[in-house]
Amino acid sequence: MSAIPLILDTDPGIDDAIAIMAAIAAPQIDLKALTTVFGNVPVATAMRNAQFLAASAGAAVPVAKGAAAPLVQAPPPHPAFVHGVGGLGALSVPDQGPPDPRSAADLMAEVAAAEAGRLVILAVGPLTNLAIALDRHPQITAQVARVVVMGGALRHPGNVRPYAEANFWQDPDAAAAVLAADWPVTMVGLDVTETVRLYPDDVDTLPARAPVCGKILREAFAHYAGFHVETRGFDGCFLHDPASLVAVTDPGCFETWRVRVRVETGTETPGAVVEDPAGAPVDVCISADGPGIRRRLMAMLGSGALR
Ligand code: BDR
Ligand code: CA
Repeated sequence: MSAIPLILDTDPGIDDAIAIMAAIAAPQIDLKALTTVFGNVPVATAMRNAQFLAASAGAAVPVAKGAAAPLVQAPPPHPAFVHGVGGLGALSVPDQGPPDPRSAADLMAEVAAAEAGRLVILAVGPLTNLAIALDRHPQITAQVARVVVMGGALRHPGNVRPYAEANFWQDPDAAAAVLAADWPVTMVGLDVTETVRLYPDDVDTLPARAPVCGKILREAFAHYAGFHVETRGFDGCFLHDPASLVAVTDPGCFETWRVRVRVETGTETPGAVVEDPAGAPVDVCISADGPGIRRRLMAMLGSGALR
């Protein structure tokens, strides 16, 4: 089977960085572009980190800049306590070259048209760029194979608020628009991503297989694991964004329910995902083989494909 053409829309972010490296390394994926969005860090920092990660891995993919703020609401603060001020823990990332001249939304539309129904868009930050693409290029709904989103929580409590997951909470209007649009959406939310964990012993094996990228990921992981020790009581981290990559490469690792849902906006519970018979049908990942997903990600990262 030929590799899946993929655009990864991201706000790197430590688990984003792991997802980016895994997407570059995965033989099942043909990474067409990275697109960046505000979220874990300001969009300028997301750009610098995405360019740095791609260059470190030797991947010559376009990296395009996207939204700096949510569609409607005021920009939320960036969670420096989770990912570090620069987004990659204590790593200091040098300035990179100019971004791709196209905006994130325009690049998505261009690649979707060129790939003629095969492109998967994997979004692992706030969904603002996808919502802009829908508004500016409505034909995109018929041109992508599917949209896979790391975000939301259906039966599981939120993380940034008791009722909401961070990516949906940071731009609930965008999340609502993307889930309501007429394209196939798979939601990889906290119902499954908190079952997928990475531990220090895993990360310590990486530099031997990927000297440059492995060291970057090990350094960034140390910060993220510190956050999880303090807030979640285990030495390791959740692999939110990388888990959603495995939903693209190995959907059999997930149990998925087709549920009609909507995302709450402008209410007391912005970003909450609620079942609603009038909502759009979304494939919601509801349970997962966490250890199996971790093994698959480790195989990608340690395959020898990364520098
Ligand atoms: C999501 O929020 C961010 O902190 C992570 O990168 C992930 O995309 C998890 O709620
Ligand atoms: Ca992210």
